[in-house]
Amino acid sequence: MISRETIDEIKNRLDIYDVVSDFVSLKKSGQNFRGLSPFNNEKTPSFFVVPAKGIFKDFSSGKGGDAFTFVMEHEKMTYAEAIRYLAKKYGIEIKEDKTSSESAEEQSERESLYILMNFAKEYYKNNLIHSEEGQSIGLSYFRERGFNDRTLEKFELGYALEGWENFSHEAVAKGYNKDLLEKTGLVVKKEDGSSYDRFRGRVIFPVHGLAGKVVAFGARMLSKDKNQPKYINSPETEIYHKSDVLYGLYQAKNAIRKDDVCYLVEGYTDVISMHQANVENVVASSGTALTENQIKLIHRFTENITVLFDGDNAGIKAALRGIDMILRGGLNVRVLLFPDGEDPDSFSRKIGTTEFQNYLKKNTQDFVSFKANLYAAEAAGDPIRKAESIKEIVSSIAVIPDPIKRSVYIQETSHLLKIGEPVLLTELNKILVQERRKNEKEKLRDQEVQEPVEPIEDIGTISKIDPLSLVYYQERETIRLLLNYADETVDELKLSDFLFNELEDVEFSNPVFKEIYEKLKSAITHHQPISSHYFLSDGNDAVRTAVSDLITVRYEVSPHWSGKFKIDIPNEKNTLSKSALSNVLRLKFRVVQKMIEENLIRVKSAETSGSWEELDKALEIQTELKKAESELAGNLGIVVAK
Ligand code: GTP
Ligand code: MN
Repeated sequence: MISRETIDEIKNRLDIYDVVSDFVSLKKSGQNFRGLSPFNNEKTPSFFVVPAKGIFKDFSSGKGGDAFTFVMEHEKMTYAEAIRYLAKKYGIEIKEDKTSSESAEEQSERESLYILMNFAKEYYKNNLIHSEEGQSIGLSYFRERGFNDRTLEKFELGYALEGWENFSHEAVAKGYNKDLLEKTGLVVKKEDGSSYDRFRGRVIFPVHGLAGKVVAFGARMLSKDKNQPKYINSPETEIYHKSDVLYGLYQAKNAIRKDDVCYLVEGYTDVISMHQANVENVVASSGTALTENQIKLIHRFTENITVLFDGDNAGIKAALRGIDMILRGGLNVRVLLFPDGEDPDSFSRKIGTTEFQNYLKKNTQDFVSFKANLYAAEAAGDPIRKAESIKEIVSSIAVIPDPIKRSVYIQETSHLLKIGEPVLLTELNKILVQERRKNEKEKLRDQEVQEPVEPIEDIGTISKIDPLSLVYYQERETIRLLLNYADETVDELKLSDFLFNELEDVEFSNPVFKEIYEKLKSAITHHQPISSHYFLSDGNDAVRTAVSDLITVRYEVSPHWSGKFKIDIPNEKNTLSKSALSNVLRLKFRVVQKMIEENLIRVKSAETSGSWEELDKALEIQTELKKAESELAGNLGIVVAK
């Protein structure tokens, strides 16, 4: 592990302007600098660097944070990689902690594995092009599949000769030791101590890590021998964890970022054929369901994933279940079905590049709607099947982390299946509550904090989403006041004390704001100084983005802010007292409105299910809430429509 001192030293030395301007050309703008967003295509610059605070904020993509975050986002590096990058830039020596989980020895062993894998890749490539066997068997197979020279080079395809020890002999002759050969999995050791090459008489597909180093191989047989598996793959090694790697991601990553979508296919040849059809934003799961880490990998480049299905209907439903995993990761999922009997490989070759690209464009469907349609057709006229379908679809919606997206899907499903929203919401809430209980149990078990699930849904039409998003902006405003003015005095009270006091009975609903609020509250009540920098360096991504957003000087960067978010605070500091008070009232007001909306759902579902006692209770609560609403409105000088 890189030591704390090293990180601190980098922090002290670095200059955010200097770091960012290696990648973005910046112009001075008041105290700050501005330029064109490196994350989006834009014509008017909305990317800001605030040297006084050591942060950047990109209003077009919403990204923001400190110099480390910038390097991580822009260069798609991990935190550790960003540290190393910045250390190098500033000539700071990296000190590793002694408690390091990865010793120098392990590190150098990994290095040797990479070197041997690279040697093997070159060896297989060479066989394919320059050996007679490679040409007549391997190369002719690739040609048959339509792969051109550029493709062979791009994917570094190769051939492993027939015979038990061709590779071993070559490697040993070049000085690689036998232990290492075994550790890469390229050579298999038998019980009697002798050993043989794992890959023989097969074409070779190297699997690249994100940085382009070969970490594994897939090998396809060419004979029709029914007793052998069609593919054999490298085993797990120190440098290859199957569940953390996606075939083709290295070749696809730029295209994924540019097109802002990633296609997911089944196999090696699908990826390669799609490249030949000029569709480069494609990766393969190699025949299995995606893992959480693979989804995170894709998420580094895009939020959108489109899963391509072969046109055999039998497998579709089973495959759909695997997709919940992707939804759970917060990605937007779309699906695309090929005609019966076709896969991306066969179909792209059959209809040609242009037609294939058109097909992708025209036939991509949203996942939830796809699933709903699939089941709707099946369940028509059969109430039992219909009930099952509802459960099936709602269970997919339930895993989506964003509540607004969930409510949009509920609406859509209600429409497609012709079922009232309250019924779907009831089902949804049931699942969410179960899920939350399960999470809580797990949390107790591994003592790990997880993000809270919000069980209550908004109904979905724009006007009805409003209270929820207004609560959001009001919470956001509270946090903004705290981050910027916690120590200012308001009516002889510190602003922070005033706000904490007034909001004692208010529970924040947005998890990010809640986290920041609680941290600030606990720091301030314990008289610990806490600055926004604390969140920038120690917070998670969401916290960092939110904080950098809120401490960027607003008037300079976005004059439309107040109009857009319906929160107007004239002249900040001078009017802090008024704005703090009105903010408190507004937040309470929005919270009450949100509760009214939530209770309305209760009223509706009580009405539908005919439970009069429940209805009575809900209506009573509704009256109380309405009273609170008009009282608060009175204080705020707002007239609420009856
Ligand atoms: P054809 O379409 O028949 O030309 O073969 P293909 O090389 O395109 O492979 P196929 O479409 O049958 O399989 C798709 C993917 O599933 C492959 O890229 C592999 O990742 C995986 N796969 C197929 N067969 C096997 C196997 O026997 N073992 C393993 N481990 N994976 C396999
Ligand atoms: Mn295939």
